[in-house]
Amino acid sequence: MAEEPEAIEAPLRIGVLHGPNLNLLGTREPEIYGSVTLAEIGERLRAVADAASVTVAVVQSNHEGALIDWVQEQAAGVAGFLVNAGGYTHSSVALRDALVASGRPYVEVHLSNVHAREPFRHVSLLADRALGVVSGFGADSYDLAFRGLIQYLRRPSQAGSHPRS
Ligand code: DQA
Repeated sequence: MAEEPEAIEAPLRIGVLHGPNLNLLGTREPEIYGSVTLAEIGERLRAVADAASVTVAVVQSNHEGALIDWVQEQAAGVAGFLVNAGGYTHSSVALRDALVASGRPYVEVHLSNVHAREPFRHVSLLADRALGVVSGFGADSYDLAFRGLIQYLRRPSQAGSHPRS
C-alpha cells in the first residue's frame, strides 16, 4: 500500500502586539510584572517561533491609533494575533473593533492576573472575541498563549483558512 505523503507545514506568520507601557517592562512595577524586559520576551517568542517554523511581526506602541493602524496593515498577512493591549484592554473599543475587523483569531495575554487586581482590570473589551485568554503567569503567559495560538492555527480544520508567509 502506498505511504501517505508527509504533510508539509508551511510557515505561519503571527502578529504580536504589545500595548502602552509594556516598553517599560523590567523596571515597571516589578512586584507585579516581574523583571523580564520586553526585549527578553521578544527573544523567548522568537525561539518558540523558530522551533515551530513561525514568523512574527511585532509592534509595541503607547498610542492607540498606531496600534489600530498596525492591526489593519498586518491583517492580510498574518494568520492570527497575540495581544497584550496593556491598559487599552480595559478601555479601547477601537482596538477591539480593529482586531475583530481583521477577521483573524487572537489570543489575549497578560503578565499579571488581571482578575486578582483592581475591579477596572476585571473588564476586558477584547476577551469575548478572543480565541483564549492567558493571564497571570508573568512572562510565561506569552509563551503559553503563543503555543496555544500556533496549535490552534495548525489544526487540520484551520488548514487553508489563513494566510501563510
Ligand atoms: C497588563 C495588565 C493591564 O491591566 C495593565 O494595564 C498593563 C499590563 C498585564 O500584562 O498584566 O499594562 O496587560
